[in-house]
Amino acid sequence: MLNYKNNDPYIEGTSLHDLVKVCATPFYVYSQEKIINQVNKTKEILGNNIFYSIKSNSNQAILKLMNSLDLGADVVSVGELKRALEAGFNPNKIIFEGVGKSEQDLLYAMHKNIRLINTESLEEIKLLDSLATEKNKVVDIGVRLNPDIDGETLSKISTGKKTDKFGIEIDKIDKIVELVKTCKSLNLVGISCHIGSQISKIEAFKNTFNQMKMAANKFIESGINIKHVDLGGGFHVKYKVSDPDFNIEMVKKELDNCFTQTEYELSFEPGRYLIAEAGITVTSIITKKNNGGINYLIVDAGMNTLIRPAMYGAHHEILAINSNSKEFIDYTIAGPICESSDIFSRDIKLTKQKIGDLLVIKNTGAYGKVMSSNYNSRPLPSEILVNKDNYAIVFSPEKIEKIIEADIIPSWL
Ligand SMILES: Cc1ncc(COP(=O)(O)O)c(C=O)c1O
Repeated sequence: MLNYKNNDPYIEGTSLHDLVKVCATPFYVYSQEKIINQVNKTKEILGNNIFYSIKSNSNQAILKLMNSLDLGADVVSVGELKRALEAGFNPNKIIFEGVGKSEQDLLYAMHKNIRLINTESLEEIKLLDSLATEKNKVVDIGVRLNPDIDGETLSKISTGKKTDKFGIEIDKIDKIVELVKTCKSLNLVGISCHIGSQISKIEAFKNTFNQMKMAANKFIESGINIKHVDLGGGFHVKYKVSDPDFNIEMVKKELDNCFTQTEYELSFEPGRYLIAEAGITVTSIITKKNNGGINYLIVDAGMNTLIRPAMYGAHHEILAINSNSKEFIDYTIAGPICESSDIFSRDIKLTKQKIGDLLVIKNTGAYGKVMSSNYNSRPLPSEILVNKDNYAIVFSPEKIEKIIEADIIPSWL
């Protein structure tokens, strides 16, 4: 995402050093141009029915941009639903999924007349029917199916195996049909699935498409008028140089092979693929040390800033920015958090670094800031959106004093 002018790093036409002058590290930077290009490429290949999975990056500025690019929104909580509405998404282009929606969540979604509420259990279908009946409404719903497919991704981001908590097992279609036929106030019009994130094997998509086609046919044969088949997200992003190349055109090829003429509309709900590579995290080196022969660089971003390495063992490339040194050293890059798992990368070769130098953690546009926390009572990272030689700070964190103020001391203390 960085380009260089006279050895100075730029995001689009904006100097990274200028951003460091106006915003304290650690912060996230997103390139608007890169997001637009990736969305347009995805739409060109997969068609216009793309529902951006806003869990990957739900900053209001990003949502406004995604909405302006004519994407729909895929939300997994009422908070995300409110974000999508606030950013201007048409309710008719919002789908609401999530394995645990409360009565209040369902009532709110019903009230907002969104496109589809995707149910994830037989119990949820029953609850939604009773709520809709009470409110005298007829609600369009989808069912998220669990196709029992191993996406062969990190175990912590696999969602499509029979034993995962998501969706309703695909071999329970008869039970779903039987139940929805008794529901007075629900219209089952869609099926969806999502087998996990960071899926690189085209075979996994092919198997998913075949399963979903079989499922759609089964519903239709049972008299259910399926209008929407949502094939999930999960497209792979190349975080490591050694990662396999992922070709979205191959997904399209399998899609066309599987679904020839259909009576229903096909859609996708990617998150990571649309925005991961359009973001970086900028961090400064606080201090250096050698412990047991390991050269640690302790940076001001921690697992509270970007949790993916600590939580999933995920890899992000790290670049050195300031150094003119020709000497290369093996460094372990660690955050300041009091946890041994607060490590971004071990034994990577960088030019010799000094305290105050900047490092860039690459490909952090998705599942970065959204998963940040105030752990160790550190502020959340800021976010900046760059548009050519223009930029805006699109998130500015609460000061620690405000965070402290939110705690309430009981009268007996
Ligand atoms: C239901 C659902 N849809 C879509 C996505 C988006 O996945 P990704 O960001 O890998 O495309 C997720 C993320 O895990 C999800 O849970």
